Amino acid sequence: MQVSIKINGELVTRDVEPRTLLVHFIRDTAGLTGTHWGCDTSNCGACVVQIDGEPVKSCTTLAAMTVGHEVRTVESLEVDGRLDPIQQGFHETHALHCGFCTPGMLMTTRALLDENPNPSDEEIRTAISGQICRCTGYKN
Ligand code: FES
Ligand code: FES
Repeated sequence: MQVSIKINGELVTRDVEPRTLLVHFIRDTAGLTGTHWGCDTSNCGACVVQIDGEPVKSCTTLAAMTVGHEVRTVESLEVDGRLDPIQQGFHETHALHCGFCTPGMLMTTRALLDENPNPSDEEIRTAISGQICRCTGYKN
């Protein structure tokens, strides 16, 4: 089937199998490999992107389900060589080690702060509870 998805403001149209997951559409079809694929069981959160501003696990979303919606990936955070404040903050506070979980962490955190610019520690912990970091970058 032909699927057209708006990703980071650009319409990407491809012929794919109806069962194609959003994470594969983004990585393999659109070539945006910043979104990671870690578990395929909806546990790790490395695959989180934003759909209409909401953080969503793209490994458990069919690409076809996102037609007519706005998908935003980690590639959209940096603009004209300037890091998003979330990226800058992760960098400055060493909130990552290997970086595998980081795309999902960034997109989840960006969505949290877009909705709630001044979250409590508890709200932050709840927001990133769907993200698993194997390097224990949570604290920072
Ligand atoms: Fe989607 Fe792990 S790859 S939650
Ligand atoms: Fe390595 Fe999180 S920084 S998995």
